[in-house]
Amino acid sequence: MEPLATRRGSIHVLSMNVLLFGATGMVGQGVLRECLLDAGVRSVVTVGRSATGQHHQKLKELVTPDLTDLSKYESQLSGFDACFFCLGVSALGMTEAQYSKLTYDLTMSVARTLARLNPDITFIYVSGRGTDSSEHGRMMWARVKGKTENALLALPIKAYMFRPGAIIPLHGIRSRTNWYNTLYTITRPVFPVLERLFPDAVTTTEQVGKAMIAVARSGSRMRVLETPDINKL
Ligand SMILES: NC(=O)c1ccc[n+]([C@@H]2O[C@H](COP(=O)([O-])OP(=O)(O)OC[C@H]3O[C@@H](n4cnc5c(N)ncnc54)[C@H](OP(=O)(O)O)[C@@H]3O)[C@@H](O)[C@H]2O)c1
Repeated sequence: MEPLATRRGSIHVLSMNVLLFGATGMVGQGVLRECLLDAGVRSVVTVGRSATGQHHQKLKELVTPDLTDLSKYESQLSGFDACFFCLGVSALGMTEAQYSKLTYDLTMSVARTLARLNPDITFIYVSGRGTDSSEHGRMMWARVKGKTENALLALPIKAYMFRPGAIIPLHGIRSRTNWYNTLYTITRPVFPVLERLFPDAVTTTEQVGKAMIAVARSGSRMRVLETPDINKL
């Protein structure tokens, strides 16, 4: 890791080694693009059950079928400054138990392993607008994401929660969920209007990626960042 420099009391990581989960997804593809373009990101290791297939001198890919057990890969998972956790599934058609397994259990298993191997790591989790910090609301997905956020915030690492609303995919990026792609194709002509009409509810894959890098580099006063906070960064 590069040394840290202080400026006006805040800490800036000069050159970062980044771990990226969910790099094949819509949000993850956007974050990967910004990491590869950013001169301050020295290396990116994606971790997933499939590879992105991209080639870049800064990029390495770790492919494993079961992300809940990373014990075999621990030697490859230390020395990181930041983890951008963009892995997630839609709760549509799932029971709370099924959704919790892929949301809470998987995320916490990864985060606990990384916290042990990288005590100084910045861990950024993508939850979503409407996430329920009380863990007791009516929306199942929001309760489970709220429980996951709360558990991450309780870990002894610099954890930040990103709660974007609608995310517009830019630069040819596509979702893993087909009906999202259909929706994006239909609404693409009105994206600029949506961004102007709802600046507090709409962001882009590019803005999310740049905001994650900014938080990992310089921190943020807020641990939970909503769409306007993400767009400001
Ligand atoms: N898209 C939006 O507008 C939006 C808005 C707010 C919040 N979010 C949140 O952002 C996160 C990512 O969303 P997205 O739109 O990027 O989703 P996406 O396009 O469906 O991508 C999901 C990613 O998670 C990975 N994944 C899913 N289940 C997995 C499993 N069991 N094991 C390993 N990897 C798994 C996928 O890998 P594979 O390639 O292997 O399937 C893929 O990389 C989600 O938590 C979502 O709720 C999204």
